[in-house]
Amino acid sequence: MPAKIYTDKDADLAVLKDKTCAVIGFGSQGHAHALNLKDSGAKVIIGLYPKSKSRIEAEKLGFKVYDTAEAVKKADVIFLAVPDVRASEVYAKDVAPNLSKGKTLLFSHGFAIVYKTIVPPSDVDVIMVAPKGPGHIVRRQYTEGKGVPALIAVAQDASKKAKKIALAWAKGIGSTRGGVFETSFQEETETDLFGEQTVLCGGVSHLIQAGFETLVEAGYQPEMAYFEVLHELKLIVDLINESGISGMRFSISETAKWGDVSVGPKIIDASVKKRMGAALKEIKSGKFAKEWLAEHQTGRAKYSELLKKGEEHPIEKVGARLRSTMPWIQKSNIKGAKAAYISTTEGKAAPKAAAKPAAKAPARKPASKAKKG
Ligand SMILES: NC(=O)c1ccc[n+]([C@@H]2O[C@H](COP(=O)([O-])OP(=O)(O)OC[C@H]3O[C@@H](n4cnc5c(N)ncnc54)[C@H](OP(=O)(O)O)[C@@H]3O)[C@@H](O)[C@H]2O)c1
Ligand SMILES: [Mg+2]
Repeated sequence: MPAKIYTDKDADLAVLKDKTCAVIGFGSQGHAHALNLKDSGAKVIIGLYPKSKSRIEAEKLGFKVYDTAEAVKKADVIFLAVPDVRASEVYAKDVAPNLSKGKTLLFSHGFAIVYKTIVPPSDVDVIMVAPKGPGHIVRRQYTEGKGVPALIAVAQDASKKAKKIALAWAKGIGSTRGGVFETSFQEETETDLFGEQTVLCGGVSHLIQAGFETLVEAGYQPEMAYFEVLHELKLIVDLINESGISGMRFSISETAKWGDVSVGPKIIDASVKKRMGAALKEIKSGKFAKEWLAEHQTGRAKYSELLKKGEEHPIEKVGARLRSTMPWIQKSNIKGAKAAYISTTEGKAAPKAAAKPAAKAPARKPASKAKKG
């Protein structure tokens, strides 16, 4: 049976009416949930550690900010929006001592619960609302009257109202506009890690770099290579997002189509699928989580080194130069508090929309006929 899709009519914001919602952390997901819920009429407070650089951003955006322990004490629903590998420290120090019977603990990824870095007491609800997109897009789409689809899950239902709370939260952040699906913590965690490692983040970034290197090593100009393997990727992915892979093929030339179906499978071949299977196995067995937690606990040297290597890749230099000639491509190279990005762009671009979100998404435009090849 196909999964049920929950929309606005299935969720009731009144469920949150007499509740205080605490968002712990004001990063990518935290700021987006907090702002969207506030604009939807919920009572939202923020919990942060004393020296957080995001305190000032949260206050600028109109929130009351408390130390994490204080926010947990005041709240009925607590969203732990801190990095997954830090969640257990935050939980042990500030959340657990203030988590009394009847409260709800909310996550937007199941990592801490599935890999048991957090084990909540049985008298609280444990739920998940996981938007299937980055936090800044969760905020942007909400202000545009749209919504990033989300997954909900219930790990503990002490109040017997856990699912209603998850649906209300999902509505508050705009996700029921896009569609909400029910899953389990385990399914969300394993598929999320698999997707980001092998296709979305790990897969696509290394596919781009390999394509760029192949062209540049063969003597082509780096600018050509950048356009071919990176810039145009968004245009193709937009078409796939709007109408599927076959729908995208409607818009490309016959030559591009033939190259797609005849050469593509030689690049992404059975050996790739085999390695994808191996990555999935390490996710399911907990090996990936164990190694990532160990990397975090031992000072993150390898993590920093690999990120630095990525920043130094020649594609970043040529990309920065080419993007600077296209002012309509938003610059989001802000370093520092993640919510600073939204406060600077919202202040200029969409103050009204943010305060009063449109009730309905604008009608979808048909896919434009982009040409490739
Ligand atoms: N990024 C995404 O779009 C995305 C998508 C789906 C799900 N998720 C999930 O959402 C959760 C949060 O991830 P994220 O990427 O949004 O995190 P993030 O952008 O790295 O932000 C983490 C926030 O937690 C704060 N923080 C760190 N230690 C803290 C402490 N001890 N007490 C209180 N706050 C603390 C940070 O403070 P500072 O601001 O001072 O650094 C920051 O505001 C994770 O479970 C993640 O898997 C994320
Ligand atoms: Mg993830």
